[in-house]
Parts: sequence; structure tokens; C-alpha cells
Amino acid sequence: GDVAVVVPAAGAGVRLGPGAPKALRLLEGEPLLVHAIRRTAAAPSVRMIVVAAPPAEVEAVHDLLAPVAPVIVVAGGAERQDSVAAALAVVPDDVGIVLVHDAARCLAPAELFERVAAAVRDGADAVIPALPVVDTIKEVAADGTVLGTVDRSVLRAVQTPQGFRAGTLRAAHAAAADSHTDDAGAVEKLGRPVLCVPGSDFALKITRPIDLALATHLLKLSEP
Ligand code: CTP
Ligand code: MG
Repeated sequence: GDVAVVVPAAGAGVRLGPGAPKALRLLEGEPLLVHAIRRTAAAPSVRMIVVAAPPAEVEAVHDLLAPVAPVIVVAGGAERQDSVAAALAVVPDDVGIVLVHDAARCLAPAELFERVAAAVRDGADAVIPALPVVDTIKEVAADGTVLGTVDRSVLRAVQTPQGFRAGTLRAAHAAAADSHTDDAGAVEKLGRPVLCVPGSDFALKITRPIDLALATHLLKLSEP
């Protein structure tokens, strides 16, 4: 493999409700992070995995993942981008391609990692898996008045793993002063092109309790 995968897993999971940090919550008896790393490690392109864990859980996460795959575990930060930066800092300079993958997208299949990595290998600076938007999207004022209907055909819902030439991702993070919700957004701010490849329904982000219910069902259909 020629790819390093950085896995932000340090979030609290506030929208999931009270409980352990989200990456350590259970899906069919195993932490989301275990499901995520099992699929990440199954991708043939992957050479190394760096997980950004909740700072109080670094040792526990290391022990949890040791039987699943070889991983480096670092302490994450206050914002997602801080966690990505902390993990990126330990990726050696000789790794040419870096993928960033949310632990919360724990059923993203190995083939999605391969699709994203292949597009970077084929020359793209930044690659994101994306799906068409299924709902009609309205722009709405604060008082609830509809301002207009957005042309859905040009919209995409974006997932992870997002893939980058390592130098591009490092430059984007170094330049990102304000916060961004995804890593490709920081590359866009550099004025560099970002390419979409087809996403996967299995790469949904577990955010709210209903997503856990959906993932429980998807797990039965998903490859290990
Ligand atoms: N993440 C992280 N460090 C943070 C915040 C988020 O590593 N300081 C990670 C999460 O663990 C998750 C991914 O970024 O894998 C996407 O974030 P999100 O889905 O928002 O997870 P949480 O921040 O944990 O959830 P919430 O916003 O509901 O608290
Ligand atoms: Mg969050």
C-alpha cells in the first residue's frame, strides 16, 4: 500500500445523546471505531492508519484496536480539524497519499477507500465520495419563509474517506485559519480543484439515534 489513513475519532457524539464518546459506542456489540478500522484495514492500498482518539481514551483505544489492525493512536483536539491535524502530524513525509475518514462513517466499505485512492493515484489533488441529493432543497429565511428552491441536480452530499496528495492536505491545513467541516473544504479555499467520485450508501455518518438503527440493519448487508 501507498496510502495513510487519518481517522478522526475524538468527537463526543452530542447529537447521539448522552453516553460514551461516539467512536466507542456499540453497534451490534462492537464499538463504531472497531467496525471502521476493520474496513479501513481491509483496503489493499492502506499502508498505515492513524487514529485521533478522545484524549482520555488514547490507551483504551490502542488496546481496543490492537487485535483489529496495526494503528497509531494520538490524542485528538477540540475541533474535528484539530484532530485531523494531530493525526496528520505523525504521517511520515514519504507517504504520498493521505485519506481522511470519519470513524462515525463506520460501515464505509474497503472498495470505497480503493476508489478514492485510485483517483488520487490517477492525478487528482483532492477526491471526495459524493451522492446525489434525494430531497428537494429549499432556501429558507429565519422566520420560516421559503426564499426559493435550489437546483438539486448540481448538489451532492459528501462523505469520507476523502483523499489527497499528502502535500495538498498539509498545505490546506496549514492555511486554514477558520473552521471547515470537511478537509476538501480547506483545499477549495486554496483554490485547488476537488474531484467527486461515486459515494456509498454504506458510508452514512452515524450522527443521530436513528442512524444507529439504520446502521444496525446495514451491518447485516455489509462486508466485514
Ligand atoms: N471528531 C474528532 N474530533 C473532534 C470532533 C469530531 O475527531 N473534536 C470526529 C468524530 O469522532 C467523527 C468525525 O470527526 O468521527 C465527524 O464528526 P461528527 O459526526 O460531528 O462527530 P461528533 O463531533 O462526535 O458528534 P457531535 O457533533 O454530535 O458531537
Ligand atoms: Mg461534531
